[in-house]
Amino acid sequence: MTDVQEYINKGIDLPAAPTIITQLTSLLNKKNIGSHELAKVAQTDQAFTAKILKLVNSPFYGFSREVSSVEEAITMIGLEAVHHLLLTMSFLNIFKADKNIFNINEFWLHSLSVGIIAKKLLKNETKEIRNAAYLSGILHDVGRLIYYQIDPKKYIAFYDQGKSVIDLEKESEWFQQNHQQLGALLGKKWNFPENIVNTIEFHHSPEACKNNDDIIITHAVHIADIITHGLNIGNSGITYVTVFSKLSWDALHLNDNIIKNTIMNSIKEIEHTKTLFD
Ligand SMILES: [Fe+2]
Ligand SMILES: [Fe+2]
Repeated sequence: MTDVQEYINKGIDLPAAPTIITQLTSLLNKKNIGSHELAKVAQTDQAFTAKILKLVNSPFYGFSREVSSVEEAITMIGLEAVHHLLLTMSFLNIFKADKNIFNINEFWLHSLSVGIIAKKLLKNETKEIRNAAYLSGILHDVGRLIYYQIDPKKYIAFYDQGKSVIDLEKESEWFQQNHQQLGALLGKKWNFPENIVNTIEFHHSPEACKNNDDIIITHAVHIADIITHGLNIGNSGITYVTVFSKLSWDALHLNDNIIKNTIMNSIKEIEHTKTLFD
């Protein structure tokens, strides 16, 4: 099957959300999650627990004693940080690719960088907004991964011939839906909050987003995506660096200094978190 619309029409399968993602997403908007609640979800997967503990015990955090449980990890690095690590690991597990033709780790590195930079750009916003920005960043280009799952050869042919530029129209010609629309469909299917679905759908054109609730998240992901391209972190299929939307720049009250500081604050976390891919 080579056609996205056909794929969607037949109802097969944008992949179903694994239980752990449903559980983690439902915790995103809860005002007060207890650490035991999050730890319980983490403990459903032993590999996740092991990875979290390995990461928290790494020199990056520099704790003098060994952290030996997820609950303890939450106390040491914070609930939000553990929540984000769990979400990231769950997504890494869903999509598979032949590493000889598609370097999925580079794809996730791009996404991770966008998630981390977006949440840092919104550091003065609420925890719920930062969570949504992180998750939107991780997922903003997931439509491209779906193209790959449907037809790897077509995906490669497409990005080989036009890989330096974003061309949403051409994507629609080739795949019936551009990667923003397809990613948003997946987000809807997985019952993600509307602000995340909107961000996936409009990350290249925030001015086209009609729903203004939490549009600040869309602005942050838009800017974080361009910064990530500029820094050449990971690879999501294209290499061209576009310009920032003026609307997003103004809405976030950005200036060169803020951008510089955000980058400096993000790089370490990106470097450190990418060890999850090992
Ligand atoms: Fe994109
Ligand atoms: Fe991107």
